[in-house]
Amino acid sequence: SHPLRLGIAGLGTVGVGVVKIVRQQAALLTARTGREVTISAISARSRTKDRGVNLSQYGWEDDPVVLAQRDDVDVYVELMGGEDGPAKASIEAALAAGKDVVTANKALLARHGQALAEQAEATGRVIRYEAAVAGGIPIIKSLAEGLAANEISRVMGVMNGTCNYILTRMEATGQGYNALFEEAAKLGYLEADPNLDVGGIDAGHKLAILSSLAFGTRIDFDGVELEGIQRISLEDIRQAADMGYRIKLLGVAQLTGRGLEQRMSPCLVPADSPLGQLEGGTNMVVVEGDSVGQIVLRGAGAGEGPTASAVMGDVCDIARGVRYPVFGQPANTLKQAQRGTSTLP
Ligand code: NDP
Ligand code: HSE
Repeated sequence: SHPLRLGIAGLGTVGVGVVKIVRQQAALLTARTGREVTISAISARSRTKDRGVNLSQYGWEDDPVVLAQRDDVDVYVELMGGEDGPAKASIEAALAAGKDVVTANKALLARHGQALAEQAEATGRVIRYEAAVAGGIPIIKSLAEGLAANEISRVMGVMNGTCNYILTRMEATGQGYNALFEEAAKLGYLEADPNLDVGGIDAGHKLAILSSLAFGTRIDFDGVELEGIQRISLEDIRQAADMGYRIKLLGVAQLTGRGLEQRMSPCLVPADSPLGQLEGGTNMVVVEGDSVGQIVLRGAGAGEGPTASAVMGDVCDIARGVRYPVFGQPANTLKQAQRGTSTLP
């Protein structure tokens, strides 16, 4: 069969990780998907920056919107970030040109995921976004596939590596927030705008995406009650420890009598619980389903390898022809429901 040809926009932490997997695991990818996975062309702001990986054999586009529409691109992989701007414009262009899309961009999906899902459905393409939530943890696939027969009652978790790193290092070192923020920056966990991390916004984006999928609702980021970690003091941490608790930036989404409740805020969790034992940049997602009971997924929520692993998992699905939509509220369902003709439960 034909190779699956990627166009990759964004060659930062995640983009470079993706290029490395395509190069270093070529044989494995072909064996697992039955197709060769290749890169046709790439885009970033700087064409000359040394990125520690040889990019000379790939085509180059300055403009990601042009890259997204190239004839030799089957899948457009958006790894630039940003809630609007070139990320949004290029994904729209890719869908309009009949390309499938893979993105790690939770900020964009939290705001525009619903509209993009509708565009993808209208054009018969898919948008996949495993890397957007909890980095290397395959939580989207777990909810969409393995847990598909469950009614979900609650999803919760620690979904921002930067915040968990800062909080656990405050505990371990007795150093204050500011010094540890600098340390986290060096590890490559931070968003381009770090306020997205420490303000809980990035984790809120992830929770909104996840809860939409879990509960079959529209993505509702504005409905997430948000509080960041900037005001957590060493004294707060000491008092929590004295009572046998740790402070985690915890997201909880659940259906209540008043509808979907979504909260991302610093919480006390028992130190001996799975969430309470989470260290450093690690993420944890807990899902409760009627048949499966409670499951706990834990792993790296950020960084080059883990995030690229998730992006490539999506690419592999597309290579295999796995094309179901991974949005909680697909456009057709919604439109039918609005017309009152839905036959779906
Ligand atoms: P980086 O800041 O490391 O890289 C961004 C890349 O996008 C850079 O290569 C940059 O080019 C390129 N870029 C930015 N603007 C443009 C533009 N207008 N045209 C072309 N290229 C552009 O980001 P990350 O790799 O860390 O993150 C990428 C995405 O993945 C984001 O959506 C982020 O939220 C998400 N993500 C990141 C994780 C992580 O661990 N880092 C984990 C999970 C998701 P140049 O290098 O030339 O400046
Ligand atoms: N800034 C994010 C974090 C990157 O710290 O978890 C992964 O989405």
